Amino acid sequence: MARLPVREEIAAAEPYGAPQPPVPVRLNVNENPYAPPPQVVESIIRRVRRAAGQLNRYPDRDFGELRSALTDYLIRESCVADLRPEMIWAANGSNEVMLHILQAFGGPGRAVSAFEPTYSMYPEYARDTFTDWRPGRLEADFTLDAGHAIGHVKRAGPTVVLLASPNNPTGRSLPLTTIDAIARHVEGQAIVVVDEAYGEFRRPGRPSALELLSQHRHLAVVRTMSKAFAAAGARLGYLAGDPELVGYLRTVRLPYHLSSITQATALAALDHAGLMLGAVAELRERRDRLAAALAAMGFEVVESDANFVMFGRLADRHGVWERLLARGVLIREVGPPGWLRVSVGAEAETLAFLRALAEIRKELE
Ligand SMILES: Cc1ncc(COP(=O)(O)O)c(C=O)c1O
Repeated sequence: MARLPVREEIAAAEPYGAPQPPVPVRLNVNENPYAPPPQVVESIIRRVRRAAGQLNRYPDRDFGELRSALTDYLIRESCVADLRPEMIWAANGSNEVMLHILQAFGGPGRAVSAFEPTYSMYPEYARDTFTDWRPGRLEADFTLDAGHAIGHVKRAGPTVVLLASPNNPTGRSLPLTTIDAIARHVEGQAIVVVDEAYGEFRRPGRPSALELLSQHRHLAVVRTMSKAFAAAGARLGYLAGDPELVGYLRTVRLPYHLSSITQATALAALDHAGLMLGAVAELRERRDRLAAALAAMGFEVVESDANFVMFGRLADRHGVWERLLARGVLIREVGPPGWLRVSVGAEAETLAFLRALAEIRKELE
C-alpha cells in the first residue's frame, strides 16, 4: 500500500500528552486538585442552558462579554489598572493562544526562541507553524541570566521570544527586570510573550509581567483558566497585549473558534472568580511545605512560584517514577535528566506521594 504523504517531521513525532492511567493519586499535569464548588456548577449549568437554546447560531466571534470579564479579572488579580477589553485575546487553552501567536509572528524563514528546560509544547508550536526552533539554555541553577539571554537572542534572531514565568518544569519565576531587559533589547525585531500559566501561584510580592505592558507594545502576557482557576476542562486560555498585536491574532484564528458553550462556561466561572481561586493560598502553602519535606529528605528542590515542584537528583529517575506509579502515585517524568516534577495535590494526595517516595528511597538504599 502507498504511504500517506505526511510531512516527515510529523511522521517521526509522537503525539504530545502525559499518560492518563486511572490511578488514585494523579499529580502529573499541574491541575488544581479541587473541583468547582456546587454553586459554580449551578451557574455554569444555567449559562450553558441559555447558550444551548441558541446553538443553531454561531457564537459571538469576538467574545465581547468574555473579554470584558477577563479584563475585570486581570485588573483585580494583578492590580494593573490600564487594561481594556480590546487588549484581551482568548482561545481554547493558552496552548491555542500561543499557536495563534506563532501563526501571526512566526512562519517560514522566521524563528522562535525560549530557554530550556522549559514547557515542552513550545517546539511543537514551532514545528506546526513551520517556524525555526532556536532555544537557549537556562543557567545550571535554572535561573535566566539576562546578559546570556540577550546574547542568545542576538545570535538566534527570533521574531518571537517565549518566556515562561513561572517556568514549567522548574517552577522558577523571572524578575521583571530580566523580562524588561530582554524586551528592550528585541524591540523592533521580536515580540516577547510571557507565559504566566501559573501566574496566580506566584508568592506574594512578586509582580506580574502585566505591569510591563504599558511600557512595551511588543510584549504580551498569556494566562489560563486551567491551573489556579480550577477549570482545565473548560479549555480557556487568554492573553493581554497591545490592541494592534491582538488584531493580528484575530486575523489568524479559525472562524468562531471559541464555542458558545466554552464562552458560557468561562463567564460563569469568572462570575465566581473568588470561589474558583479559593484554594490558591492553601496550595501555595502546601507547595512550600512539600518543597521543605523533599529538602528534608535530602533532595535538591528548585524554588517554585507555581503549583508544582521539581526535585532531584535521581540516579534512576525512571525507576523512581515507575515505583511511584506501582504505588498508585502518578507524577511527571519531565525536565532535565535526574529530575522529576510533582504537582501540589490535595493534602492526602501530597502525603501519599511523600510516603511512597520515602518507602522507595529506603528500597533503593
Ligand atoms: C507553561 C505552560 N503554559 C501553557 C500551558 C497550557 O495550558 P492550557 O492550554 O491548558 O491553558 C501549560 C500546561 O501545562 C504550561 O505548563
